[in-house]
Amino acid sequence: MKTRTEVNKTISGRSWRLLASRRALPVLAIGAMVVITGGCNMGPKSGFGFTLPDGDAERGKETFVAMGCHHCHTVQGVDLPPIDGEREANVGLGGEVVRIKTYGELVTSIVNPSHRLAKGYASADIAVDGASKMVNYNDQMTVSQLIDLVAFLQSHYQLAEFEPTHYAPYY
Ligand code: HEC
Repeated sequence: MKTRTEVNKTISGRSWRLLASRRALPVLAIGAMVVITGGCNMGPKSGFGFTLPDGDAERGKETFVAMGCHHCHTVQGVDLPPIDGEREANVGLGGEVVRIKTYGELVTSIVNPSHRLAKGYASADIAVDGASKMVNYNDQMTVSQLIDLVAFLQSHYQLAEFEPTHYAPYY
């Protein structure tokens, strides 16, 4: 049998825990908000609020060729003029993907290519010392050209059909 003080301790222990869990609620809520907003990265350097006007995909294709993007890129389903000599890089754009690239990602790939290198390539094929082999166009390209390029590229990505994973039957 428990002594009176032991019982009292248990009761006060329980109520303290209850209080602690009630107290924890607002703390948890604030924590969750920090995680959520932190996850979206709403700081001054976030892309939040960034919106481009609609571009013209046809003009984007002309810009793509005029700027020599086709020297290093093919675009799935698009006929581009042949190039003389060796390709410095060969990175395919467009085609079937599991998630269409957002225009934020496409703009970043063009104006800040080393920020995140294209996936699925050996680093030596696309980068030198971690920096993208892509030409820097930031001092030559107009904003309108950038917008048109994004419209052109985005129109050549298709969402791949969802392939469910097949599991062996479970008995
Ligand atoms: C000298 C070669 C070269 C030229 C010219 C070039 N790029 Fe690139 N580009 C690359 C390489 C290499 C990569 C892969 C590394 C990276 O992600 O930056 C790349 C990546 C990209 C990506 C991201 C692809 C992905 O799957 O993540 C886009 C979009 C892109 N380039 C667009 C363009 C456009 C538009 C132009 C013309 C205005 C252009 N590039 C000109 C070499 C080039």
